[in-house]
Amino acid sequence: MCGIIGYVGKKAASPVLLEGLRRLEYRGYDSAGVALLHEADLHVRKKKGRIDEGIARELQSNPAAGATGIAHTRWATHGPPSDENSHPHLDQSGKIAVVHNGVIENYDQLKQRLVKAGHQFRSATDTEVLAHLIGEYFDKRRVERSEPNPLTLAVCDALRDVIGTYGIAVICTEQPEVIVGSRRGSPLIIGIGDGEHFLTSDANAIVAHTREVVFLNDYDVATLTRERFAVVNLGTQTAPVQISKLEFQAEDSQRGEFPHFMLKEIFEQPRTVENALRGRIDHEGATARFGGLNLSPAELRAIDRIVIAASGTSWHAALIGEYLIEELAHLPVEVEFAHEFCYRNCPLEKNTVLLVISQSGETADTLMALREAKRRGHKALAIINVVGSTIAREADGGIYMHAGPEIGVASTKAFISTLTILTLLGVHLGRMRMLSAGRATEMLKALEAVPKQIESLLQQDESIKNLALKYAPAEDFFFLARGYTFPAALEGALKLKEISYIHAEGYSAAEMKHGPIALIDEKTPTVFVVPQDSMYDKTMANLAMIRARKGPVIAVATEGDLEIAKVADDVIQVPRTLEPLYPILTSVPLQLFAYHIAVARGCDVDKPRNLAKSVTVQ
Ligand code: AGP
Repeated sequence: MCGIIGYVGKKAASPVLLEGLRRLEYRGYDSAGVALLHEADLHVRKKKGRIDEGIARELQSNPAAGATGIAHTRWATHGPPSDENSHPHLDQSGKIAVVHNGVIENYDQLKQRLVKAGHQFRSATDTEVLAHLIGEYFDKRRVERSEPNPLTLAVCDALRDVIGTYGIAVICTEQPEVIVGSRRGSPLIIGIGDGEHFLTSDANAIVAHTREVVFLNDYDVATLTRERFAVVNLGTQTAPVQISKLEFQAEDSQRGEFPHFMLKEIFEQPRTVENALRGRIDHEGATARFGGLNLSPAELRAIDRIVIAASGTSWHAALIGEYLIEELAHLPVEVEFAHEFCYRNCPLEKNTVLLVISQSGETADTLMALREAKRRGHKALAIINVVGSTIAREADGGIYMHAGPEIGVASTKAFISTLTILTLLGVHLGRMRMLSAGRATEMLKALEAVPKQIESLLQQDESIKNLALKYAPAEDFFFLARGYTFPAALEGALKLKEISYIHAEGYSAAEMKHGPIALIDEKTPTVFVVPQDSMYDKTMANLAMIRARKGPVIAVATEGDLEIAKVADDVIQVPRTLEPLYPILTSVPLQLFAYHIAVARGCDVDKPRNLAKSVTVQ
């Protein structure tokens, strides 16, 4: 996934674009570039590398003027990170610049057609092909004198030839105060200012300038000038424009006094749970309530199976959701990797509902799963964090996390928020079925105690840091658990591997003895998530098997457990709670453990290598 920002207005565009790129960098960070229009000249600066070492220095040493411009920070899909593969890309004439987030799947055929027509290419990217295509159509449109805006029409013409996904911004020397943008499968948002307009793939990039936005839909083509904007749709020609107000403030996506966004977001988690619970607990009815499911009680009661589709950390949350909803509502739940759901033709009965989980609301695999279920006539619900995201707008109903912007590439607070919401959903569905008021009330009260319990866990940060320093040199880890905390073990392993680059494997403690235990030796630490729940005795037996093979053991256990210290090398204690809520409490120390190991190993915690915050390509 890449980040795009465009500006047309009264101010110098360069600083606006550069600050926007910094706020977009978590979406992709292997190269960046800007294109500015000044007195009918196009000035392009682009560099491989992070923004501050690359494009920022380039602009400092070789500034560019202009009040209209576009910019891009890249996560490479076609063509390795390099100066020439960085965006913006130009057309053959050099008068049109394009930045693009997505994948042009038929770029090779288009390139062959353009090469035959005499076009020469400088880069290995699919985006440059799109730039040349727009340029070719622009030359045709420009001759039609009657056209007030040949650039918009040329973009429409070119996109009709394109197969694939795109979020683009385009400028041209012959229309110096115009930006044209369009999207299909990648997010694009108009920011509405006073005498200025913005175009961006992520509202974080413009929230400091405006909170009035328009979330564009697939096939929308937007034309922006200083004073106005217009939207047409490639398919329907007209495009209803709905102006929304961003829920969050600029400071919500600032790091504040924290060294990393990830640490800030870990420490936000007590508030995150409170936000997820706010207005959703009905103590009198001993149930939970949601405003946006858009399903009647009768429709909710008629559901006889739920398929949950997600990716990465959201998929781990989905696995816990399976345990929760099956236990609380006795509803069969099946969890699928979003991409597998799209292609394995999973049987869906009449009253099967798809639930997708996505922090960004833009993950391509998850979006495709939602569209697949809807294509087959099924209701698709979503648990989402980013308001106005593509999945949020295409779902039939949904539940917002209200977790605020999650900037760290490693998802933390969104995971905890999702688990909170899935617990509420289990109670909500359960109270329409077999769940007693007493059991529901017990669950809701235990949920309301979670924010304070997380506060107490965060006070262990220093001791967890010391533990992390002890184990930071290890090159291989196992994370083991059973039952509800098994997916928490998977998540703990993912956190460690994605920010510290250590090989870490989450596994069922029960399954360990069927092969992987061969990997255990004194150099391979195992983190056991072993709260005093119904699996405790069996998990302790698995722990003993590891100890018998000299494997170092770190246990995440319940406060007051006197046995664990006798068998584990190190213990992290979590407050006692109900079994279904242990995944929330045990994940917080594992987030801190991974964070401190990554910092100790000198890794870029917020922008780990090879990763991006949201994967908008399949
Ligand atoms: C988690 O730390 C990763 N960043 C990644 O696995 C992420 O959870 C996954 O890409 C899904 O993202 P989404 O929730 O925005 O759909």
